[in-house]
Amino acid sequence: MTGIFLALLLLSVSSWYGRAHGYSHGQLLPRVDSGNCTRFIVSGSIPGYFQNHAFYDFRQLGDYASASPPAKITSKQDSGDENVTSTYFNTTAFQGWNILSGVRSDESTVPMIYSAQNIFISDANSSDDGAATYLSLRTSRLSAFQSMAEIKSTSDNYLHASLRIRAKFLASSDADVASGAVFGFFTYKTDNQESDIEILTAEDADTVHFTNQPASDEDEAAHAIVSLPDGKHWTDWVTYRLDWFNGTSAWYIDDEPKVQSTDSVPTEPSSVVLNLWSNGQSFSGKMAVGKEVLVAVEWIEMVYNVSDSQVNTASPVTCKVDGVSVTGQAEVVVESKSKSNAIRRSEQTTTSFLGVILAALFLAGSFDLV
Ligand SMILES: *[C@@H]1O[C@H](CO)[C@@H](O)[C@H](O)[C@H]1NC(C)=O
Ligand SMILES: *[C@@H]1O[C@H](CO)[C@@H](O)[C@H](O)[C@H]1NC(C)=O
Ligand SMILES: *[C@@H]1O[C@H](CO)[C@@H](O)[C@H](O)[C@H]1NC(C)=O
Ligand SMILES: *[C@@H]1O[C@H](CO)[C@@H](O)[C@H](O)[C@H]1NC(C)=O
Ligand SMILES: *[C@@H]1O[C@H](CO)[C@@H](O)[C@H](O)[C@H]1NC(C)=O
Ligand SMILES: *[C@@H]1O[C@H](CO)[C@@H](O)[C@H](O)[C@H]1NC(C)=O
Repeated sequence: MTGIFLALLLLSVSSWYGRAHGYSHGQLLPRVDSGNCTRFIVSGSIPGYFQNHAFYDFRQLGDYASASPPAKITSKQDSGDENVTSTYFNTTAFQGWNILSGVRSDESTVPMIYSAQNIFISDANSSDDGAATYLSLRTSRLSAFQSMAEIKSTSDNYLHASLRIRAKFLASSDADVASGAVFGFFTYKTDNQESDIEILTAEDADTVHFTNQPASDEDEAAHAIVSLPDGKHWTDWVTYRLDWFNGTSAWYIDDEPKVQSTDSVPTEPSSVVLNLWSNGQSFSGKMAVGKEVLVAVEWIEMVYNVSDSQVNTASPVTCKVDGVSVTGQAEVVVESKSKSNAIRRSEQTTTSFLGVILAALFLAGSFDLV
């Protein structure tokens, strides 16, 4: 009987302990509009905040889309001065990006020419991932040159960022993606200050390269070739993510951490670049004359610092961009309180749990005594 009494006493003590500390009320903190965010955190183990957030959404641009792509580049269009294909690229929604045009380099095996005609808004198939439209990039091989696509940030002042892009190669099957193209999403200052996500169509359809270009001959480059998860191919929609922190880089695929490295992490303010290219050299390989490759992009999301960023003096509103209910909409986290609430909740669970176990032990003991 003593055992049962003690058990009941313990149970009530543990539940009193929980209530007395206000645990059982599960206080909900008020939700603040993400427009009030002053700093942003990302998922993963690297600590740190970013001060800015941008979301470029290409999924609902019906006013700017066309059912068929712009005319193919012809052999005469070797100076790359074609006009942009849609007024979208002149809107404020696209502010922050430049579309490159003109001769990139005629030193490469196959001369590289940028053309704005290779960047356009396409109607999506309604059954496909729920998007009405997407941004298309195109590269094509003419006999005398490679016509390519590149979008570059107008700012070259990004210093640390978490960049994400949801994209896929367009083809009815992997076999229909011509070999020799490279799709890149990366930060760039110089060839030695560069952090990359790259997909090479010469390779297997489930591989992606993550690289920090070496800062010097002595420095080791971070370089990993990773397989897409869940049997995906790059002809499927995949979210690729590059985190550039001070001294550490990390890469993710569809929210799964894949690679983390401290080798050759860029240290200088940089641009952000999105491109689709080939130069006929060993890395990309050579695209056959007459072939073309297309990449579709649903959205780009970036949280970032700029080199001259100041710490906010006002009390910060911290927001998260991962695990949010609507992609692209940051959500407020009330950090210190929610963290201590989480700790309290786990303490409470532990306390009650301990109470139950002890009670059970006492009960068992009391039956033994009987
Ligand atoms: C954003 O902050 C302002 C100023 O503190 C506040 O008035 C407003 O209610 C906040 N927005 C939301 C949705 O909480
Ligand atoms: C670009 O558009 C302007 C105005 O419509 C036109 O005059 C010009 O020829 C176009 N340039 C090219 C290279 O098509
Ligand atoms: C976009 O703006 C440029 C520069 O102002 C202009 O030359 C071009 O005609 C515009 N194009 C479209 C499609 O609006
Ligand atoms: C949509 O369908 C067309 C025709 O079947 C195809 O060419 C295109 O690649 C598809 N787009 C996407 C995003 O899958
Ligand atoms: C990066 O870390 C180094 C070493 O801790 C520090 O000196 C530097 O100020 C940091 N840079 C930025 C931009 O935070
Ligand atoms: C971003 O800038 C703020 C203010 O300078 C700084 O506190 C923070 O550590 C920076 N974040 C990263 C990841 O460099």
